[in-house]
Amino acid sequence: MSCRRFLVTGALPYSNGRLHIGHIAGAYLPADIYVRYLRSRGDDVRFICGSDDNGVAALKSAKEEGRPVEELTAHYNASQRRAFEGLGILFDIYGGTHQPEYAKLHEKLSQDFFLKIHAKGFFTKKSTRQLYDVQANMFLPDRFVTGICHYPDCGKPNAYGDQCESCGRNIDPLLLKEPKSVLTGTKPEPRETVHWYLRLDQLAPKLESWLRTKRDWRPSVLNFALAQIAGGLPERSMTRDLTWGVPVPLDDPDAKGKTLYVWFDAPIGYVSFTAALCAQRGEPAEQYRAWWCDPDCKIIHFIGEDNTIFHALTWPAMLLATHDSASIQGEKGEYQLPWNVVANSFLNIQFPGKEEEKISKSRGTAIWIEEYLKLFDPDPLRYYLTAIAPEGQRTAWDFDAFVERNNSELIATLGNFVNRWQKIVTDDYGRKVPQPTKTADADRAVIAEVRGLVQSVADDLEAFRFKSALGRIMDGFRACNRFIDAAAPWKSRKTDAEQCATTIYTCIQCTRTLGVLLTPFLPFAGDKIRASLGVEPDAWTWNQAADELPAGHALGPVPEILFKRLELKDFAVQN
Ligand code: 2FM
Ligand code: ZN
Repeated sequence: MSCRRFLVTGALPYSNGRLHIGHIAGAYLPADIYVRYLRSRGDDVRFICGSDDNGVAALKSAKEEGRPVEELTAHYNASQRRAFEGLGILFDIYGGTHQPEYAKLHEKLSQDFFLKIHAKGFFTKKSTRQLYDVQANMFLPDRFVTGICHYPDCGKPNAYGDQCESCGRNIDPLLLKEPKSVLTGTKPEPRETVHWYLRLDQLAPKLESWLRTKRDWRPSVLNFALAQIAGGLPERSMTRDLTWGVPVPLDDPDAKGKTLYVWFDAPIGYVSFTAALCAQRGEPAEQYRAWWCDPDCKIIHFIGEDNTIFHALTWPAMLLATHDSASIQGEKGEYQLPWNVVANSFLNIQFPGKEEEKISKSRGTAIWIEEYLKLFDPDPLRYYLTAIAPEGQRTAWDFDAFVERNNSELIATLGNFVNRWQKIVTDDYGRKVPQPTKTADADRAVIAEVRGLVQSVADDLEAFRFKSALGRIMDGFRACNRFIDAAAPWKSRKTDAEQCATTIYTCIQCTRTLGVLLTPFLPFAGDKIRASLGVEPDAWTWNQAADELPAGHALGPVPEILFKRLELKDFAVQN
């Protein structure tokens, strides 16, 4: 396969809080694995993320924490950056829609977007009634209103003015039952205000034709989006009565004091950070068009399920609304639509002896990444979160299972195989790949099985089946353990040196292949395995995973310990 081009994004986390395992399992870990895989194949990739600073989420937290919103968002932007880095989730850029370095470019691109859509006639300016908090003397942003979901088949109490946390559908705040202001706890009253509404209703037929071409998307994403269209897409207001955000760029007295809806500017963050990345690399910022406006490049958004509506409908509608051509995907020079939107479900959590529950900051049921990293290594987390990835449905983090799988799978299966032949190759062969002179069916079979994984794991990854891909690799390690158990080189070294040399040779070939395949998932362990095999990073690629490490090749040093044994008490679980 020749070199392909991909722009991969991770949903921009709100910079009003720290990251927990749910965020990582939802979007960022699969995105990182995918990007590492593509790079290992030799594809040209840009991996984009940054914080979502604008809008009410940050404003609300700044109020609660009693500090300026600029300070709050800078603080959490830095905290998120550290958490990602600690986990080995390495973006090419981690921007922030209101961080000093990025805000200007972001504002400009967001305003350009707005103006282009405005010029194309896809906004309606409307005066509507909106909830007003008399005591706080302001219009209430959607997230500042809570109440009971107005959809009769839901009716759950945890709905916000923009989205219901239970059923995930968009909410009309005026229809919310028993609305309450988050600021004052009072019942808000409707008052007149002017806003600009995106004509999703007009864009719906094109959106639908585009979605109908996406048969290989995860059904949860595709079906949800199509169902929304079938139910009728309403116009959605893309402006807010708010001072924190990107000012509405219209020369119109009605635009005064208004900013763009955060869900309008946030996805444009993907574009503005791409432009900032180009600039950081010494290219003109305009070079972002080579990624965004060239159908040659594939754009993939990794998100959590609650972001589906915005990435599968609103954002593509915005992109379509900028087009001059009638083409759906966008012609060269026009913004193209996402090639795929990969969404995971939520991750629940299971404390020992308790029922599975939702991860919740307020109930203290989250595992914060920065806290985790103070005690543990990143790879076991990456392993477990991929092994239980909520790819099709919700799954739960279970402390017992995390510890158990670390000890029985990472240590007893994977680490064990990599270590079992190390002493022999050091003592008997001076850390050089021995000459195989007695290759038998068992050697050929295990090597063929493992090398066959190069394609099958790639097939899984190309289709975003991360859990299955990792499962195959672990099956490969199990096969290797069975092979070495049967061949027992610790015995043959004393009785049949040729047999022993052949077994060790086979183990080394298998370790190389599995090590390469493993690296996108467990980059820290993968790198230790690579170094121990004496392979340079530029030869540690997917395309070379099945290449022989020939007899005589000098291995590196015995690998450092790959995984540490864990016990449940290490977690000091307080719940
Ligand atoms: O749900 C969230 O955390 C949002 N801040 C995601 C935004 S994704 C994108 F559009 F920027
Ligand atoms: Zn609902």
